[in-house]
Amino acid sequence: MSTSLTDVSAALSPASFAAAVARSSALEDQITTYPSRFRVLTGDRPTGPLHLGHYFGTLANRVRLQRAGVEVFLVIADYQVITDRDSVGNLSANVLELLADYLAAGIDPATATIFTHSAVTALNQLVLPFLSLVTDAELRRNPTVKAEADATSGRALSGLLLTYPVHQAADILFCQANLVPVGRDQLPHIETTRTIARRFNDRYAAGTGVFPEPDALLTRATVLLGTDGTKMSKSRGNAIELRASEDETARLIRRAKTDFERAIIYEPEGRPEVANLLLTAALCMDTDPVDLADSLGDAGAGALKALVTEAINEHLRPLRQRRAELAAEPAHLIDVLRAGNARANHIADATLTRVRQVMDMTY
Ligand code: TRP
Repeated sequence: MSTSLTDVSAALSPASFAAAVARSSALEDQITTYPSRFRVLTGDRPTGPLHLGHYFGTLANRVRLQRAGVEVFLVIADYQVITDRDSVGNLSANVLELLADYLAAGIDPATATIFTHSAVTALNQLVLPFLSLVTDAELRRNPTVKAEADATSGRALSGLLLTYPVHQAADILFCQANLVPVGRDQLPHIETTRTIARRFNDRYAAGTGVFPEPDALLTRATVLLGTDGTKMSKSRGNAIELRASEDETARLIRRAKTDFERAIIYEPEGRPEVANLLLTAALCMDTDPVDLADSLGDAGAGALKALVTEAINEHLRPLRQRRAELAAEPAHLIDVLRAGNARANHIADATLTRVRQVMDMTY
């Protein structure tokens, strides 16, 4: 989201951030020992194909959790695309691109549930009782809503944007997910979700735990910059898409910004562009950027770029191969999505039935 441009972490006190870090590390231990106790929900807005920044920032972590034995739910948040824009592009094509990226990266539809917001009616209906549990002042205070409002450059805030943290709470709570992998700036969302779960249980369910309070799992997020040294994003033309060809990748890296020093040294503060290229290669090669810099010595930016290109293309080759196969079979992708939607509907219906029961709305 555009909000990652804004530093909203200031909203969080150092003490509560430290507590979240400690909690996440305890959770990681629990995940290793009892993976089946956890259900993760997370997702993305379908605004186009994913890039390397998404891959190392979130997608690889989801695959890691799945392989550890945690059950994974992924929401393709199509209703979120219309929170802050009038034209949404080719939504259904974007949904399939995103799905192809998930599967190519290793998300296994046999165990993971991938679904779109718009297909799961009962999930959306949970938003109504949930909205009764928050005040407009609370919504306006949400740092992401605030930042989004600022980013819309003076345009009026849509009601859907104002309430999207509540919608996101429904995404998480409908399936009783208890773990949400997030970056630091997303912690306030999980707080909102926990508040809604608690208030629902207290106000409508006589204290029975209809909804568990989910935990945030802080991702040891690696922030990759784009080829121009600023945040990687498709709209800036500085992103390396996962689906890019090897030649496109080479071209993008060749054009990447560097500096004029021949010595290749890993200095994120002083030489962010060179450091970012080193980090990209190191992540792809599962090694350390400092070691890579040592191995390059005085070889200069050209040699660095050759190394980075090779590292990306090598690392993504199997993913790209699978992705090409998937893209050639759209009917299969649609089947996967329909199966995910059916499963999500089944769970959401059961949750809504329980909600109606405790709210005395069963007629
Ligand atoms: N807001 C997320 C994004 O911008 C997508 C999302 C929707 C999400 N619902 C969620 C993430 C619930 C975590 C939990 O990509």
